[in-house]
Amino acid sequence: MTTRKPDLHTPSRRALLTAGATAAAATALTPGAAARTLQQPRDRFAGKVVLITGATSGIGEATARAFAAEGAAVFFCGRREALGDRVAASIRAAGGRATFRRADVREEGQVRDFVEACVRRHGRIDIAVNNAGIESPRAVRVHEQTLADMEAVWRTNAAGVFLAMKYEVPRMLERGRGAIVNTASVSAEVGWATIAPYNASKHAVASLTKVAALEYAADGIRVNALAPGAVDTPMLRRAAEAFGVTYEQIAQDYPVKRIVAAEEIARVVMFLASDDSSAVVGHDLDATGGYLAG
Ligand SMILES: NC(=O)c1ccc[n+]([C@@H]2O[C@H](COP(=O)([O-])OP(=O)(O)OC[C@H]3O[C@@H](n4cnc5c(N)ncnc54)[C@H](OP(=O)(O)O)[C@@H]3O)[C@@H](O)[C@H]2O)c1
Repeated sequence: MTTRKPDLHTPSRRALLTAGATAAAATALTPGAAARTLQQPRDRFAGKVVLITGATSGIGEATARAFAAEGAAVFFCGRREALGDRVAASIRAAGGRATFRRADVREEGQVRDFVEACVRRHGRIDIAVNNAGIESPRAVRVHEQTLADMEAVWRTNAAGVFLAMKYEVPRMLERGRGAIVNTASVSAEVGWATIAPYNASKHAVASLTKVAALEYAADGIRVNALAPGAVDTPMLRRAAEAFGVTYEQIAQDYPVKRIVAAEEIARVVMFLASDDSSAVVGHDLDATGGYLAG
């Protein structure tokens, strides 16, 4: 008699495709039109200074554009200098205020200098979006993961958020107010086979968010996170290609049956950063399109 073993070597679609760890391209499954029709007051963030880590592409870029479109001065980083300069120039060309400064969130000195450069330029930080992140490089089980991959992903995703808050918070404490939004993931809320480095790093982001939220709530600083599922960004496209899955397959894992647009996630970030969420503290907001509802 043969017993069918669980197929743990072949990552399930569900395991691969969400959590920012996967996918390919199918524009029909993306909701650009719906996202673009959302109307918000154009000056909701007028006069606000918004610092964003990892805004050279994807969710961070969409978030930078969205804040700038509603009146904020955006100060953002990433490692790809030419791309960062292009994103900033295109925001300015559209009438927004944006500055790119190269910084690697794995390096404490660079994070400190990035935060201080924002304060030098704008005098303060009202909102910080700690978004920079990378995916798990390989879809394998825990015993096949390498310490190098674990450390690389943790250093960017978890230590990067820690370092950003370490230097942002003192500047917010000086003014007795601020909002911090950390990009976690659906992978921070559930176990996800084959992506241990990413999954564990995002649990750390959710944990850091709760700890910081408790520590600074009485000082007027609100700290929250959001949990996207499958979002149409370069990360998801890379992952889909690497794991040989399509957007159509990924979409089936989500109640909304589609891939979410980066612009929709930007709206969630803006909600958590705005006074509309003044009673929300230490939360990891489900922005998956229903995955965590089940
Ligand atoms: N797409 C999804 O389905 C999904 C789902 C859940 C969560 N997320 C999370 O959303 C966040 C944004 O990802 P994305 O999907 O928008 O992917 P993306 O397009 O690859 O964007 C990642 C951003 O992070 C920056 N970054 C990476 N490593 C960095 C470092 N060491 N220092 C500074 N910046 C760094 C990248 O800039 P440079 O390359 O220029 O450094 C880029 O701007 C990540 O935290 C990701 O885990 C994504």
